[in-house]
Amino acid sequence: MDTLKRKIWIKTYGCQMNTRDSETLKTLLMAEGHTVVEQEKDADIALLNTCSIRDLAESKAIGKAGRLLKNKRKNPNYKVGILGCMASRQKELLLKILPQLDWIIPPQNLSEVPQLIQKSLQNKGTGCIVPTIPESFEFQCYEKGVPSSPVLMVPIQQGCNMKCSYCIVPTTRGEQQNRPFDSIIREIQQAAQRGIKEIMLLGQIVNTYKDKSLNQDFVALLQAVQAIKGIERIRFMSPHPAFFTKQFIRCYSELSKLCPSIHLPLQSGSDRILKAMHRAYTREKFLEIISQLREIQPRISISTDIIVGYPGETEEDFAATYQLFEIAKFDMAYIFKYSPRPTTLAAEQQTTKLGISDAVKEQRNQKLLERLTYYSTLYNRQFIGEIQQILVEGKAHRGDNKLFGRTVFNKKVIFEGSPDLIGTFQFTKIKNATSSVLLGDLEG
Ligand code: 5AD
Ligand code: SF4
Repeated sequence: MDTLKRKIWIKTYGCQMNTRDSETLKTLLMAEGHTVVEQEKDADIALLNTCSIRDLAESKAIGKAGRLLKNKRKNPNYKVGILGCMASRQKELLLKILPQLDWIIPPQNLSEVPQLIQKSLQNKGTGCIVPTIPESFEFQCYEKGVPSSPVLMVPIQQGCNMKCSYCIVPTTRGEQQNRPFDSIIREIQQAAQRGIKEIMLLGQIVNTYKDKSLNQDFVALLQAVQAIKGIERIRFMSPHPAFFTKQFIRCYSELSKLCPSIHLPLQSGSDRILKAMHRAYTREKFLEIISQLREIQPRISISTDIIVGYPGETEEDFAATYQLFEIAKFDMAYIFKYSPRPTTLAAEQQTTKLGISDAVKEQRNQKLLERLTYYSTLYNRQFIGEIQQILVEGKAHRGDNKLFGRTVFNKKVIFEGSPDLIGTFQFTKIKNATSSVLLGDLEG
């Protein structure tokens, strides 16, 4: 008899959106009586919440699913599902190369996952379940499945309309849909009542958020969250440089809870490449935004995403990116080697002539990483000797008594303390800093 209550292991690849989706899923599954296990070996259902952003992320998930499916030999009741972006982009391929899969469930069907699991547990031999993608995303599932972590990630959008030439997200997550304003506020109010102090608003392009029926935009949303009692810190990810308004920048001086840290994806510092990428801003506009932000918040942490080796990127284009890095002095950056994603404009248009070799991509990547180490160390070292308030998020490493928390500047502080401090604000004296973390001691 195939029991209807199972031990489920969820593995998450990719971005914060996926992390939050997995956490919500965990809550939804537990509400149905399933157990969500931490260890792969304890599970009889494995769900991979996948990412399609680069080729490597996809190959890793395919490899993992293949290995997990072998468990069916020992346990015929063992089941494996592919969720997330690959499930919407690679349905046919997945069915072909991994025919034993039990579910292929796109991100838009998140709220249906518990039912779909139930369905295949009830009917033996249904084969792989592949639901059709609903027209509108059921944002309400986020209100039902609120995770208990000290920082709450709050999705405010699904999908993306921007069609940046390199990006697969509009294909995998579909057209941009904005979550109703009231639903966002309700979730945050409930979280505040449960003691959550920091929230991160999540979306593909948060600063284009709009609730048309209530005529509320992203600035209105930030103002409304500022007014929620109990919430002390507000972050968001990611804004798009093309949609910065004066009112939006003014939030950094007017909203006391808005953290002085921003993740602002640059992608390239060359106007020619930005144009080819359909990014709709220039390097000058990007630099203007960061100088306006620094005028208001001189120590603001600015992080970014950069792609090296975009088709046709010349030495001159790369030099423009390198030079912009020197001016912007990013204290954190994710530097990616361009990975062609089939069906995107860049991949379709890329001729052999325009393709950049792996060796050159690697070289450019290394050059920027070297600058990143330099500027992140410089930025982090400014805090040595200071007392910084942190929100304690969790244990730093397994097996010892170190904890970590984050400063308003989004910098991780590692310190010694008791786990009951998790979820509380503390003060730490910073005694050292590396390119990636600050080391501190609890203050009084
Ligand atoms: N190749 C490499 N990096 C990519 N990104 C998006 N698509 C690609 C691609 N095809 C990067 C962008 C984006 C981040 C989430 O991933 O920098 O901001
Ligand atoms: Fe997230 Fe983008 Fe990866 Fe999808 S493709 S999981 S949206 S990073």
